[in-house]
Amino acid sequence: MGKSCKFCWGLSAVLIAGLAYGAYKFIVVGSVETGVDGRSVVLLSPDERLKVLGEMRGLLEAVQTITSALVDGDMKTVETTARSVGMAAAEGESPAMMAKLPLEFKTLGLATHKGFDDLADLAAGGAVPMAVLGNLSTLMLNCTSCHQGYQLKATAAAD
Ligand code: HEC
Repeated sequence: MGKSCKFCWGLSAVLIAGLAYGAYKFIVVGSVETGVDGRSVVLLSPDERLKVLGEMRGLLEAVQTITSALVDGDMKTVETTARSVGMAAAEGESPAMMAKLPLEFKTLGLATHKGFDDLADLAAGGAVPMAVLGNLSTLMLNCTSCHQGYQLKATAAAD
């Protein structure tokens, strides 16, 4: 094996490492920095941040509507409200923004949407309100654990 080939192998190794790092960064890490309070700060464009926060307020409104409907035993409203923030609501997220989100963040976010679909199924399937409330309470551990770990920050308007 000549010197030049060793160089080729070396170069390939560097390229492969670079690609692996790129994939790791793209899929696992996302675009983050560490915040002053120790939470991971996800860096988004101003528009992306506003969109995510808008979705968050939608989740809180859904939780409010669902708890109130559970008290009334109005399982139809529980079902339709939970469905409105289910997986269908997560469709159409931009790939550019998804790439900025750490893997754990995406996983928790999708599990939350999926959890609301399960809640809708439960309500539609004739579960009693207390059972659905218990399910919602568990589902909300996703909200609290994500809020404990993450913060959002808008970067310059250009990206
Ligand atoms: C995958 C992570 C994640 C999940 C799951 C999540 N949130 Fe959030 N939420 C965030 C982040 C990050 C912020 C911004 C916090 C910050 O920048 O300090 C936020 C902000 C919010 C806000 C404030 C919105 C605003 O306008 O400022 C509300 C309300 C909220 N979330 C409700 C919820 C509710 C209710 C759930 C569960 C049903 C939930 N979130 C699930 C990550 C998440």
